[in-house]
Amino acid sequence: VKPFRIIVAGYGTVARALLDMLVTQERHLAEVHDVRLVPVAVVRAAGAWVDPEGLQLDRLAPRALMRKDVAEVLENVQAEALVELTPTDLKTGGVALDHVRSAIAKGLHVVTANKGPVVHAAPELEALAAKKGGSFRYEATVGAAIPLLSLRASLLGDRIERIDGVLNGTSNYILSRMGEEGLGFNEALEEAQGRGYAEADPAADVDGLDAAAKITILANRYLGLGARLEDVRVEGIRKVTGEAVQLAVKQGYVVRLVASASQAAGVTVAPRLVPLASPLNVQGTLNVVRFAREYGGPVSLTGHGAGGRETAAAVLADLLAAAGVAPR
Ligand SMILES: NC(=O)c1ccc[n+]([C@@H]2O[C@H](COP(=O)([O-])OP(=O)(O)OC[C@H]3O[C@@H](n4cnc5c(N)ncnc54)[C@H](OP(=O)(O)O)[C@@H]3O)[C@@H](O)[C@H]2O)c1
Repeated sequence: VKPFRIIVAGYGTVARALLDMLVTQERHLAEVHDVRLVPVAVVRAAGAWVDPEGLQLDRLAPRALMRKDVAEVLENVQAEALVELTPTDLKTGGVALDHVRSAIAKGLHVVTANKGPVVHAAPELEALAAKKGGSFRYEATVGAAIPLLSLRASLLGDRIERIDGVLNGTSNYILSRMGEEGLGFNEALEEAQGRGYAEADPAADVDGLDAAAKITILANRYLGLGARLEDVRVEGIRKVTGEAVQLAVKQGYVVRLVASASQAAGVTVAPRLVPLASPLNVQGTLNVVRFAREYGGPVSLTGHGAGGRETAAAVLADLLAAAGVAPR
């Protein structure tokens, strides 16, 4: 089988889970899908491991890093795809945007879990990929392992009227704990940090920016809104009080950070009252998205919206699509 060579930018939670999957799934991928994914470079902030014949993944960590960054690796190492898994910069797209743009300009396929390049430049990058013969895929950026973007093929014949979702697991964990245990916002946040669900700087999660980026990606894909992150009206959950959450529960509701998009109302993120029986009432770190359709009615998808393995599973699906593997 002809190797499909990949360069991986990043060696954090998601990249390591992906590299593990490539080892454990190698036989399955070859036997069932007739494909051989071969990592030829892994690039970290500190440097790169490179082997044009394919890296020995079980012996990476002890090997010395070469002093090369992603740009140099893209220049010098032959590959079919770049997997971009460096930290997200929602303000500008960050270095990840440079990585993705250069790879696509060279005709590579690009797969990413990084929302930065997508919210800042998806139309440009998709057009460039079409011209250069590659592709730009980012299923993992919204809802990790919940197949929210590839669902589009199944919804093509219908008209999507609106999209509502709970897209940030950290805020949902905090709101769930406030409802279940009567905790205040700060207490629930500390608990989330203690359990590793919230970052030391939780701003992107609790102020709604992460959810805003995800609903922007969905709004553009499904409703063609051409929305930018700055267009989203965002309110986070810092001002939600324990009393308000308790009162909602008494009246048959929960408070959830709901991200919504429609032609009429544009794109919004805000804490909302959600009836207990609504599909949007997901617990803990779960995510959910409900699509309202003109003909088919509502359809909802729930699942894990973060985590190394969960995110890597979505990245791998995109990689297989880039390598030309089609479901039978
Ligand atoms: N974790 C999740 O559950 C999840 C879910 C959905 C999406 N995502 C997205 O997936 C991406 C990766 O997340 P993660 O959790 O794996 O991140 P992470 O654990 O923080 O790892 C980030 C990695 O990027 C490397 N890096 C930083 N700057 C770099 C540069 N300029 N060039 C090359 N490598 C660089 C770091 O290198 P060093 O190892 O040298 O420090 C590190 O290995 C992020 O964009 C994130 O938003 C994550």
